[in-house]
Amino acid sequence: MNILVTGGLGYIGSHTCVKLIEAGYNPIIIDNLYNSKKSVLQRIKQITSFTPQFYYGDICDKPFVDSIFKKHDFTAVIHFAGLKAVGESVIKPLEYYEKNVYGSICLAQVMRDNNVKNLIFSSSATVYGEKNPVPYVESYPTGNITNPYGWSKFMVEQSYIDLSNAEKEWSISLLRYFNPVGAHPSGLMGEDPQGIPNNLMPYISQVAIGKREKLSVYGNDYPTKDGTGVRDYIRVEDLAIGHVAALKQINKSGIHIYNLGSGIGNSVLEVIAAYEKACGHKLAYQIVERRAGDIAAFWADASRAKQELDWQTQYTLDEMAKDSWNWQMKNPNGYPNE
Ligand code: NAD
Ligand code: UFG
Repeated sequence: MNILVTGGLGYIGSHTCVKLIEAGYNPIIIDNLYNSKKSVLQRIKQITSFTPQFYYGDICDKPFVDSIFKKHDFTAVIHFAGLKAVGESVIKPLEYYEKNVYGSICLAQVMRDNNVKNLIFSSSATVYGEKNPVPYVESYPTGNITNPYGWSKFMVEQSYIDLSNAEKEWSISLLRYFNPVGAHPSGLMGEDPQGIPNNLMPYISQVAIGKREKLSVYGNDYPTKDGTGVRDYIRVEDLAIGHVAALKQINKSGIHIYNLGSGIGNSVLEVIAAYEKACGHKLAYQIVERRAGDIAAFWADASRAKQELDWQTQYTLDEMAKDSWNWQMKNPNGYPNE
């Protein structure tokens, strides 16, 4: 079964391609290499003994995307391609709305033109905004978001919900990820941030390996267990398996919304402690001001995915830290250029 994977060379996409291959699917990748490298393909091959077909190009380029649909018969599309840096989205909102919103609409139009109507979309827990109590449940209202990146996910969700209302034969899954971390246990694939990492675990990894002097902990005066921010960290392997599980819905028309999280909240200090255990030494950090736009705490109610997809996370924070450190040690400079 051919599955088109947009953004399939990125962090979550590459791990999902491995799980798709292991489950017997044939992932075919479109990626513009904006935030990834072609050498990821070689790593997928090392893990699975199979190299997925790869097309270099942009999802906003409809004739290009259409030409891929003319070459292959797709059963479904898993749509990861997009921009994901929250801070950057505040500075470059138009680029975020173009690539994330316009790109997602172009993709759905090409799918419709080619009569492929099974779609799985990478959404985010950020769509729950600031006002909802934890744990987040799929039925909560969305909105009250603090940045353009989050609004772009909200807008794509709404476009796809409207599409599903208008054209009943579509089957669309909106997967709301919590905080993906970790790496493939082989150490061959992991997160490869360009420049200074924005997210907690990649930043800690670079402190652990000596690339950065110390971590800034953004605030210790939140109303949480130790005052630092609390998040639901989900191992990227578990998240990838969640996509394979979501493919079960492809013949069920309508909108299917799932939280993909562990259901457990961990603080920044707990993440640091887990990483110290993994790397075997203390990590330097200092408490600084809160980061603008941060929420004190959120985690998932992941019971719907368990009930309907028979999916739940398997790994602990210690295991996530261990894999992240393994990847960091084996690939101190990330993926090779070619
Ligand atoms: P990533 O940047 O590693 O992967 C995205 C991939 O898409 C990259 O390989 C990039 O080169 C490609 N891409 C970007 N724009 C493209 C375009 N216009 N056309 C073709 N390819 C394009 O990001 P990721 O962490 O793997 O995230 C995947 C998806 O999940 C994104 O949509 C992201 O917003 C969403 N998401 C990520 C997180 C997270 O914390 N990583 C959390 C929630 C949701
Ligand atoms: N943090 C620090 N220091 C850092 C980085 C982060 O203390 O250098 C803290 C944050 O304040 C927060 C926690 O670590 O309390 C996690 O922060 P991340 O930046 O790793 O993740 P966020 O929860 O802010 O956001 C991430 C993605 C978003 C996505 C969201 C939910 O970046 O794209 O998870 O999926 F929307």
